[in-house]
Amino acid sequence: MKVTIQSPANIAFVKYWGMRDPKLFIPMNNHISMNMSACTTTTTIELTDDPTDVIEIEFFKQSAQRLESNSIKYQNILDQIDRIRSLAGSEKRVKIFTTNNFPADAGIASSASGFSALTGALLIAYGMRDKFDNKVEFSKQVRLCGSGSATRSVYGGFVEYIAGTNHDDSYAVLIADEKHWDLVDIVAIVDPEKKKISSSEGHSIAGTSPYFDARLSELPNRVEVVRKAILDKDIRTLGPEIEKDSTSLHVVMMTSNPPAFYWAPGSISIMKEVMRWREEDDLQAYFTLDAGANVHVICEKKDAEEVTKRLEANPFVKWTIYNEVCEGTKLISIDD
Ligand code: PMV
Repeated sequence: MKVTIQSPANIAFVKYWGMRDPKLFIPMNNHISMNMSACTTTTTIELTDDPTDVIEIEFFKQSAQRLESNSIKYQNILDQIDRIRSLAGSEKRVKIFTTNNFPADAGIASSASGFSALTGALLIAYGMRDKFDNKVEFSKQVRLCGSGSATRSVYGGFVEYIAGTNHDDSYAVLIADEKHWDLVDIVAIVDPEKKKISSSEGHSIAGTSPYFDARLSELPNRVEVVRKAILDKDIRTLGPEIEKDSTSLHVVMMTSNPPAFYWAPGSISIMKEVMRWREEDDLQAYFTLDAGANVHVICEKKDAEEVTKRLEANPFVKWTIYNEVCEGTKLISIDD
């Protein structure tokens, strides 16, 4: 059995930061995102009779490398393999080949595309196609690998994760599919290097910030406003909420112990420019940053060319990645 799955990264409009239950990876708050067409992971899994699981990753613009079995990355992936293998009651090992078409660990949610592709391919390879096809169940299986953002990649378009309080009531739902609204996310790469504090470490220290409770108190209302603005295709309501959410998240990050300071000079330069474009020219573009220095600029497709031109004129910007809203995790091929 050989299965190939492709899955997109996504950008959160209301972000997930901090866990209610670190064992089941239940988040503190509902979170909402849009999928990204140009940032995908493709994963092929083959069942084998070999004695060990082999994992090969081809990172962006690098040659493929086999992960050492004592590395943290191997262990994280192995946890999910072992969980799904035991769910299937199988002894078979896997050979995994996975490739990313964008820089990993730089605030472009590579864990989202990576872990949703991995989980989808494992479920199908181990004979649980029903759990892959049922997207609520699929999102729960993805959550158990520890990447909350990955749970949102299972559907196409705009997705909300319902935090819930336990395994049964914590899952992703679709807000609107990829044909609903031609929003785009233009990522301005100012620093393609790996981030210093991983999201999983960030979630565990979120509660040490004195501003974490203030952030959580803002979120129920923001989730309602953002969901409605997506349904209404209302960028003038959506945009300011996206920016407030990003800045509130980064305040928590910067004031936690140890502090997680992701902004670089280029990030600040772009944030200020985007605000100025709105003030001076009414250009409807809005920024948001995940756990990294690179800036996601959200606008409607009709403004994308102008926004890209302006971003590329900024001396801090190394290159841009243009993303439309897209399909979620999908099966590319399957050989029995
Ligand atoms: O999915 P994780 O555990 O990598 O956490 C995601 C954290 C943020 O990217 C900062 C926010 C989000 O909701 O995507």
